[in-house]
Amino acid sequence: EKAEIGLIGLGTMGSNLALNIAEKGHRIAVFNRTVSRVDEFKANAGELADRIVPCHSLAELAEAIRPPRPVIIMVLAGKPVDEQIAALRGELEANDILIDAGNANFHDTVRRFRELEGSGLTFIGMGVSGGEEGARHGPSIMVGGTEESWKRVEGVLTAISAKFKGEPCAAWLGPDGAGHFVKTIHNGIEYADMQMIAEIYGILRDGLSMGAKEIAPVFGTWNKGRLNSYLIEITAKVLAADDAKTGKPVVDVILDRAGQKGTGKWSVIEAQQLGIPATAIEAAVAARVLSSLKDERQAAEKAYGALAVEKIDAPRDALLKDLELALFAGKIAAYAQGFAVMAGASNEFGWKLPMPTIAKIWRAGCIIRSEMLDTMAEAFSSGGAEKNLLMAPAFVTLMKGAHPSLRRIVARAAEAGLPVPALSSALGYFDAYRQGRGTSNLIQGQRDFFGAHGFERIGEQGAFHGPWNSAD
Ligand code: 6PG
Repeated sequence: EKAEIGLIGLGTMGSNLALNIAEKGHRIAVFNRTVSRVDEFKANAGELADRIVPCHSLAELAEAIRPPRPVIIMVLAGKPVDEQIAALRGELEANDILIDAGNANFHDTVRRFRELEGSGLTFIGMGVSGGEEGARHGPSIMVGGTEESWKRVEGVLTAISAKFKGEPCAAWLGPDGAGHFVKTIHNGIEYADMQMIAEIYGILRDGLSMGAKEIAPVFGTWNKGRLNSYLIEITAKVLAADDAKTGKPVVDVILDRAGQKGTGKWSVIEAQQLGIPATAIEAAVAARVLSSLKDERQAAEKAYGALAVEKIDAPRDALLKDLELALFAGKIAAYAQGFAVMAGASNEFGWKLPMPTIAKIWRAGCIIRSEMLDTMAEAFSSGGAEKNLLMAPAFVTLMKGAHPSLRRIVARAAEAGLPVPALSSALGYFDAYRQGRGTSNLIQGQRDFFGAHGFERIGEQGAFHGPWNSAD
């Protein structure tokens, strides 16, 4: 019996995705560059082994799948994907579908899509979120490609995806690079979410002198309220865990240097290219870079002297409430930015990205899944959020209730000398966004002064110049 689908790349994500597919009743042919891994994988697949067809070459893989063949490629993003595609081209036939499930840069996806046009093969760029667990038991799946190719794989992809109240978290989002673009922005938002959580942790640790064991239940409690989300849930768990070696809380023995694989950076690059402000996401990416400069930071601490952190002095309960709401407000601003970047890309590339669908398929399975995404899905469905999530009536109400806390927390943190770059960027964005008359009248004056760039006058048509002359 032939397999329905194939998968190349039995790393953690690929293996888990293959097991997930097999578990949902699909026969799957698998191949891995280190070929020994293929038999090992089947041998360890337990009761799912029957549905796994181990292949020792790409020719064997092609032979094992019933045409037209869908083949998922789950290898390291970048050159390995191009190499796999090149190698597969000789083995596959017209109407077969190549599905890149890695964290590809969407520009590469668009290029690969074009390169395969006319070859008879179809290409799908598929963003998959949810880490190892998600891949195994239900990820969020963001698909880009032709609608026709989506129709052909929709069955298996919705079967393996996470479900939110029964609704599959897998969807076709648009042509060529649309799926990978949306995944990139998902990761940008993920960076902002994580950074803002870390900043709040910093305030609790350094401003309130709370230990990890005391902070863990704070996040645990928040997870039962408006901040309910996977990232808050795991934050509580990470903070509660003990190090086996020292018996200390594990966070206290982890070096404060964060890694990154590039998707956060890409989301910022694309935001800049599109001319869409995404300051909270930018601050989060920059914070990771700064975190990596451990030696420099230590030297700077010496040069400037360790900051005499002024302990934040306020009734504990009120302060915790403020911190919760500040995080909530910061999160809304960061998501507003992420969605605005997607709207900008949708216009620029003619994608017609379905914002309500994107919010919906992020409600379960993915790393940024949260209760708030359900509220966002409703906001995008009921209108008012087309230009910016901050303008959706439901979010105007939420933000009105939460921004005073963000303001107080950012101010207190600044006074206490505690860095909150993502939260303060979120606040700065919000304040600039809701200010009907800003200060760029002065920028225009300056531009006209030094470069005769001209300016518009309030309530008048045309370009004007100021009363300055070069002799001044
Ligand atoms: C997901 C994650 C995942 C990503 C890293 C984050 O949605 O499942 O976003 O795809 O690769 O976990 O990347 P960094 O290594 O850059 O933090």
